[in-house]
Amino acid sequence: MRIGFVGMGIMGAPMALNLLRAGFDLTVYNRTASKCAPLMSAGAKQAESLPALAASSDIVITMVSDTPDVEAVLFGNGGLAEGLKPYSTFVDMSTIAPSAAVRFAARLRNRTVDYLDAPVSGGETGAKAAKLSIMAGGDRPVFERCLSLFQAMGTSIVHTGPTGSGLKTKLINQIVGALNLLGAAEGVRVCQAAGLDAATTLQAVSSGAAASWMLSNLGPKMASRDYSAGFSIRLQQKDLRLAMEFCRELGIDAPGVALVFELFTRALESGFGESGNQSLIRLWSA
Ligand SMILES: NC(=O)c1ccc[n+]([C@@H]2O[C@H](COP(=O)([O-])OP(=O)(O)OC[C@H]3O[C@@H](n4cnc5c(N)ncnc54)[C@H](OP(=O)(O)O)[C@@H]3O)[C@@H](O)[C@H]2O)c1
Repeated sequence: MRIGFVGMGIMGAPMALNLLRAGFDLTVYNRTASKCAPLMSAGAKQAESLPALAASSDIVITMVSDTPDVEAVLFGNGGLAEGLKPYSTFVDMSTIAPSAAVRFAARLRNRTVDYLDAPVSGGETGAKAAKLSIMAGGDRPVFERCLSLFQAMGTSIVHTGPTGSGLKTKLINQIVGALNLLGAAEGVRVCQAAGLDAATTLQAVSSGAAASWMLSNLGPKMASRDYSAGFSIRLQQKDLRLAMEFCRELGIDAPGVALVFELFTRALESGFGESGNQSLIRLWSA
């Protein structure tokens, strides 16, 4: 089975590396070609163009930023669609709008190409350790065809239902995660204002009912003013915009989403876009 992988960013590069380690025949492509170098050193082939990558792959995976980026990579001039083979499979692992995945899948179905939306959770750490949570929407036989790939990149792999349902699940994940992150930031600020030792406080609070991935992983970074990017403020704000749109489509009142969307938009406007999402705390501290 020949695999093509597009998008050697913070997430895509380690995910592709894990496919290589699992023994898959891998060809990679990145808009900024130099980012393919570590993959080539590890044994991947580099495609000269998106159609060339598609033409030489049975399964094509994309891990890019936002809905317009997936659309450009797929259907833009010189995009994947110009090379995708009939009866091949396209798997988008980026976080984009669920409604767009449904549209893209319909366009590819006309060309006898199967589609899965399979976004991930677990961050850069999970990507490097092949411990991602993968939520995949699409026909079950297509999911099963891709299962061995997902197993090389993740540990929790769930078929969520039809096309778009993986992304809907991911947006719910982002809503819960962002609200946990806000809670962690507020906890760290109160801890520091109270003059408590941050490490001791985080150890105690992370072991009880307030435990969360955000608190355990980003609480210590916030306390030590480590703003390095695993998941950027820019992408976190994008996910909350998608979550807002999703809640609007559903017609449900979601005050928590509205609050974190507003705060992350302020963080973006404050110039923290390329910093890690733990930089939310910088809205209130230096
Ligand atoms: N980082 C995390 O913790 C995390 C966790 C779960 C899910 N995600 C999701 O995973 C996806 C990727 O995130 P990331 O953190 O890896 O982002 P990233 O480091 O910013 O990488 C984005 C990648 O997409 C490529 N790209 C973006 N727009 C493109 C376009 N129009 N045409 C071609 N290539 C394009 C970039 O190419 P260049 O190198 O040329 O810019 C780069 O390879 C996003 O949807 C994000 O929401 C991220």
